[in-house]
Amino acid sequence: MDRIRIKGGRQLKGEIVVSGSKNACLPLMVASLLTDQPLTLKNVPRLADITTMIRLLQQHGVEISATPGENGHSHGTTLTLKAGKIASTTAPYDIVRKMRASVLVLGALLAREGEARVSLPGGCAIGARPVDLHIAGLKAMGAEIDIDRGYIVAKAPEGLKGARYTFPKVSVGATENLIMAAALAKGTTVLDNAAREPEVTDLAECLSKMGVSISGIGTETLTIGGMERLTGTTHTVIPDRIETGTYAMAIAMTAGDVELVGGRLDLVEAAAQSLRAAGVVLKKTNRGIHVGRANGLHGVDVMTEPYPGFPTDLQAQMMALMTRAEGASMITETIFESRFMHVPELARMGANVTVHHESALVRGVPKLRGAEVMATDLRASVSLAIAGLAAEGETTLHRVYHLDRGYERLEEKLAACGAEIERLKG
Ligand code: EPZ
Repeated sequence: MDRIRIKGGRQLKGEIVVSGSKNACLPLMVASLLTDQPLTLKNVPRLADITTMIRLLQQHGVEISATPGENGHSHGTTLTLKAGKIASTTAPYDIVRKMRASVLVLGALLAREGEARVSLPGGCAIGARPVDLHIAGLKAMGAEIDIDRGYIVAKAPEGLKGARYTFPKVSVGATENLIMAAALAKGTTVLDNAAREPEVTDLAECLSKMGVSISGIGTETLTIGGMERLTGTTHTVIPDRIETGTYAMAIAMTAGDVELVGGRLDLVEAAAQSLRAAGVVLKKTNRGIHVGRANGLHGVDVMTEPYPGFPTDLQAQMMALMTRAEGASMITETIFESRFMHVPELARMGANVTVHHESALVRGVPKLRGAEVMATDLRASVSLAIAGLAAEGETTLHRVYHLDRGYERLEEKLAACGAEIERLKG
């Protein structure tokens, strides 16, 4: 298994190109199941999760071709996906257990084929993560759903019917699943308390281009007019706001000065506000966002919330930054129940963090020391890399496959800005 070694203490300077968004791209790829015509996606990042989604869709019968983007530039890979015929309506355990986003094929397969059998994803490192809302929403649209030997078995022999469904809790994945199901349902579907994350908006905009009428895009009420057939289209994936925020925090951690090329400030407003309060300077430029640091770094309180609030996917990185701030910071996680797995690892590097239920009190320390560390999920892993960039001495990050799921060429991007970072193979 690969490891990443970082020698801390270098300021990041230069530019980093922001990749296309992983979490926008995954549902967009699934949208290819809704039509027999080709869907072309541009700015696709090269990541392990994208490869897993390609494998899943291929076994459903989707033909996929890839054209690599210019190396180092923001254009990413172009994928063309064509689901002429659906070869299988089963999403097997072997793939779903690797990536929970696989459950997004449920709504699309059910809407197109009238049946789907999708493995239940099970728990994961950041929490129990049930899929009850996906199921309840599809049932409201007329699906019959049973759980059989670990699989969600869904049927809608007469097709899905438009319905009004109010999410009892905001869910990104359930909103995406239901939008895709509604796109081929008979009649109009109204989704209340829908997720407003930019990734949901990107999916809705792509589906509009495929012929679905969707109103309320970007709001908590989405009205979707179901169509009999959808057409193919070409769509450019939005830049990754979590990657953008992650690098902004890494730059702040090293008191660096970097332009995030292709980054969109409007997608990271809540994180930008917290960073500014901590003493970080973020400015919109013609090409993206410029990140620098004014004077010292101050502790700020942060609470994760659904969009447009502070994203849970930046909580661990913000905590890493706050370990070196002057004063204290209270970080509250309201989305996932076990998303503080990075705390004991940060403590091994000298951080002072006390967790009480859903809040972590971070008291800034004058220095961190490099150590051997490992994490159990993607964002926790990158938070340890951020800590390593500012730590005295050497940090070795184990289980790098977590990072490879969601950060394209992380070590190359950081090394190009002056970080002493390398991947150790095997
Ligand atoms: C998406 O996961 C993202 N993944 C996550 O990013 C992100 O952390 C999360 O949204 C929240 O922003 C992708 O987009 C592929 P949810 P998702 O449904 O859709 C509960 C990363 O690091 N819930 O919005 O699975 C759930 O347990 C990943 O890139 C139910 O109770 O998240 C959680 O507490 C990690 N029942 C809350 O809702 C359900 O049926 C929000 O989850 C569904 C969700």
